[in-house]
Amino acid sequence: MKRTNAKLTDVQGVYSGPEGDLWELIMGEQIHIGGFSQSKILADLAGIGRDEKVLDLCSALGAGLRFLAKFYGARGFGLDATEKMLEKAAARTAEDGLSGQIEFKKGNVESIPWSDGFFDVVWGEDAWCYVENKDRMIAEAARVLRRGGRIAFSDWVEGPKGWSEETAARICGFMKFPYVESQKSYEEKLRKNGFSIRSSEDCTPHFASCCDLYIRMLTEQLTFDALRIIGWDMEMFKAMGGEMAFMAEKAHAGEFGRCRIVAVKD
Ligand SMILES: C[S@@+](CC[C@H](N)C(=O)[O-])C[C@H]1O[C@@H](n2cnc3c(N)ncnc32)[C@H](O)[C@@H]1O
Repeated sequence: MKRTNAKLTDVQGVYSGPEGDLWELIMGEQIHIGGFSQSKILADLAGIGRDEKVLDLCSALGAGLRFLAKFYGARGFGLDATEKMLEKAAARTAEDGLSGQIEFKKGNVESIPWSDGFFDVVWGEDAWCYVENKDRMIAEAARVLRRGGRIAFSDWVEGPKGWSEETAARICGFMKFPYVESQKSYEEKLRKNGFSIRSSEDCTPHFASCCDLYIRMLTEQLTFDALRIIGWDMEMFKAMGGEMAFMAEKAHAGEFGRCRIVAVKD
């Protein structure tokens, strides 16, 4: 697919401002589809063990790592490019009494500031769609993983039915994604970087039902809260609703979706 003009600075703008707050309003502090239950599925598939070192690429508010620390006893390391997210992540981690178990760094996931073979697991939840150079990110993930280490992630992708250039441009433009992968192209990238696929799933039907859920929450429960976040701009609220409805329609049609992959470094 053609790329949009979205750059890392645009993504930092999203997560430093009202859009990021809106995503937290509808998804909770785990800013990904399905929250706790989807994280649990991913963690169980990855076989996260006590004291394993897990690197969350695009760690946002740090909730993914707090989940892994609390429920799996993992040691967490977060990398994110947005200062505001990192500040909130550190504060909430301290509030939860987990500062000794989790640390955060600021940086671009295309250049990971840790040494070769340092991690047992590289983790990502619904965020790599924002990354401009995913080849570089996967190569970096392979570098910082030990042999036998796992990469475990979910992401928003082109759906199993494929999509048109127009659909891709509209969704990626609205979401500020430079482009997205497909489940298949992720599998190819992983193999090219020395991984064996342990599991690979298309989660598009669940993704579509969650899109409906977010629209219902915004229109039937959280309208006032959302309007406050975007400065009471009703026109903007309606425009965003229209784009979300378009995404939901394309998700139901299997053109836009989500996948979950776990792979092992050979
Ligand atoms: C949807 S949120 C991630 C949600 C998080 N995985 C969770 O489950 O709570 C997207 C995050 O990705 C970060 N991000 C996007 N592109 C990045 C990049 N190239 N390097 C580092 N962080 C990036 C943004 O700053 C933002 O905090």
